Amino acid sequence: MTSPDSSGKKKRIFSGMQPSGEAHLGNYLGALRRWVGMQDEYDCIWCIVDQHAITAGGDPAETPANVLDLAISFLAVGLDPEKAIIFVQSDVSEHTELAWLFNAVTPVGDLERMTQFKDKSQRFDSIPAGILNYPILQAADILLYKADGVPVGEDQKQHLEMTRDVARKFNAAYGETFPETEPLIAEDVGRIMGLDGESKMSKSLDNTIPVLAAPDDVWAKVRTATTDPQRVRRDDPGRPEVCNVFTLHKFFTGDATQADLDTQCRAGTIGCVDCKRILSDNIADSFAPFRERASELHANPERVREILDDGAARARAIARETMAEVRDRMGLDWRSAIG
Ligand code: TRP
Repeated sequence: MTSPDSSGKKKRIFSGMQPSGEAHLGNYLGALRRWVGMQDEYDCIWCIVDQHAITAGGDPAETPANVLDLAISFLAVGLDPEKAIIFVQSDVSEHTELAWLFNAVTPVGDLERMTQFKDKSQRFDSIPAGILNYPILQAADILLYKADGVPVGEDQKQHLEMTRDVARKFNAAYGETFPETEPLIAEDVGRIMGLDGESKMSKSLDNTIPVLAAPDDVWAKVRTATTDPQRVRRDDPGRPEVCNVFTLHKFFTGDATQADLDTQCRAGTIGCVDCKRILSDNIADSFAPFRERASELHANPERVREILDDGAARARAIARETMAEVRDRMGLDWRSAIG
């Protein structure tokens, strides 16, 4: 997908993130920093997908604060309401309306074949329909805005294929309405492992670092990070290529220091604690501006409300146009029988 297109109009992109509270290092490295960098080139819509989150069985008492915290994280890391639409999914009811209508063109077999469905459904004795229908709501999120592209990670590729299928089937049944949205898969930065060095970073596994954490809290987390298991004593020679702390240095530490740490690790002249200390300081330094913006927003939550209300209003204006077209195509405008 090149941008802007030949007419000079910016291409539109949409992406969503589930609200599990403050964004963490994995969200930042895997998605948010890329989104921030796309805001000048594309017409961007960033959505906090709280209706997707209900399928994960979140605690209703915590959800509102989780949404607010993710919104603050979005704004703190540089998602910009002057450049993009930033809003909460449940504020625009057209998402669920379109998802219902997409049920008409979605084979159950396709939903059952989704890898994420197969994984998630194993956790239930009685599988909630929401887990099965999750990709339909995701297709609705994207197609409601006729997005040209969706920046996502590799793990969402199959859901994007599903979105394209839904668009194709809808267009075939009711007439050309939706684009076949392209997945904009992030260039492979290598899998970003959690601090345990074993699983993908996730808040529920407590193996990551909140992007807004104070320097001491960053250190408390980084200290626990797993390093080369063969390095038992401080002066054992280490292998940076198998060390997750080194992977993280690649994002936060300058090339010269990285090279120096590499040499010293292999020679056994620097211990893991010292190496982690450097990483921790660099993470805390590079996120300092985020902490500052977040604390301003925490002091002024009304401002966050205004931004999300305004985002929802702008999203709704686009959503309404699409839904008028969809209802017309699907014959859901009985008044037309009267003329
Ligand atoms: N399924 C996505 C995830 O878990 C979240 C999501 C919901 C999304 N709707 C979307 C991502 C639309 C991109 C576009 O990460």
